[in-house]
Amino acid sequence: MSGVIRSAVTGIGGYLPENVVTNADLARTVDTSDEWIQERTGIRQRHKAPHEQLTSDLAVEASKRALAAAGRTAAEVDLIVVATTTPDLTFPATASIVQRKLGVPVCPAFDVQAVCSGFVYALSVADGFVARGHARCALVIGAEEMTRLLDYEDRTTCVLFGDGAGAVVLEPVEGQGTTADRGLLGFALRCDGTKTDLLYVDGGPAQTGSVGHLRMLGNQVFKHAVINIAEAVEAAAAKAGVEVSDVDWFIPHQANQRILQGVANRLKIDEAKVISTVAEHANTSAASIPLALWQGVEDGRIKRGDLLLMEAMGGGLTWGACTLRL
Ligand code: UT7
Repeated sequence: MSGVIRSAVTGIGGYLPENVVTNADLARTVDTSDEWIQERTGIRQRHKAPHEQLTSDLAVEASKRALAAAGRTAAEVDLIVVATTTPDLTFPATASIVQRKLGVPVCPAFDVQAVCSGFVYALSVADGFVARGHARCALVIGAEEMTRLLDYEDRTTCVLFGDGAGAVVLEPVEGQGTTADRGLLGFALRCDGTKTDLLYVDGGPAQTGSVGHLRMLGNQVFKHAVINIAEAVEAAAAKAGVEVSDVDWFIPHQANQRILQGVANRLKIDEAKVISTVAEHANTSAASIPLALWQGVEDGRIKRGDLLLMEAMGGGLTWGACTLRL
């Protein structure tokens, strides 16, 4: 009997801008302290891209590493999906610019906008192409320059975010339709548009004609995060036909160490199974999951065949989770 086609992650890459901004650096100009930031968020530092380095540049570097890890070249790529909330320009899509800079031949290329949940959404979109035979070598990228959206007069938000990019190569593999299959196994995607005012940017082409600044009612978002993420994690595990306790590694969106702990406690997940990069990267929105995945693979913790569960929550409010066997 022929099996089912799954979308397998065959290469992972990440890129962080060179410039590091520590909490102490911020405390020189913002009314905050290293102690407050570490205690409330777990963040110690973030990377910040210089003016001339664009979101597409971060995406290109991460993609080159992902392609090299997969043993693929730009010439073989036949789909690009970029999850970003900080595009180089209002249009064209950052995916188009990445395609040009990487030298990828004509193919479908577009952006997905679901803020911090963007990478999980983008994976599900790309899965639709790969698992149906419409793409054989897809690049799925989370790339963000969140520091471009910050109001450094607002200490409740400007200490939380950083810049970076992560990318994966998705390729079709034949599976047997079981939980032992390699590839994307189950998704749960959610949005509650009644809560747009909890986390948003106060500018945009239609409403203000400007880029705007990030605004967040942090403690309200926090309250929604733990409960809603846990529900989505359980739903994504159920879609895949696995138990949360079967999962080898949890790769959460990196907003706040206390959220990571809260979700782990709620789901009775051993914290040693949770990949955390929030101390070094801060919140890089759609880039944070592929960056954490890259880090876990690079340092040898995450191995081929492991069962992974990724989850995120962000502006929209959007949230979601995805089960993957590497
Ligand atoms: O990626 C998208 C999802 N985003 C998130 O998940 C973020 C979710 N929210 C959070 O991570 C947390 O709510 C924050 C880290 C944003 C804030 O932590 P909190 O424990 O909820 O603090 P709070 O907002 O209740 O503020 C507590 C106090 C306030 O002072 P008062 O009113 O108690 O005197 C703030 O003014 O901390 C003060 N504060 C600060 N103090 C020093 C807020 N920001 C700072 C700061 N430095 N940077």
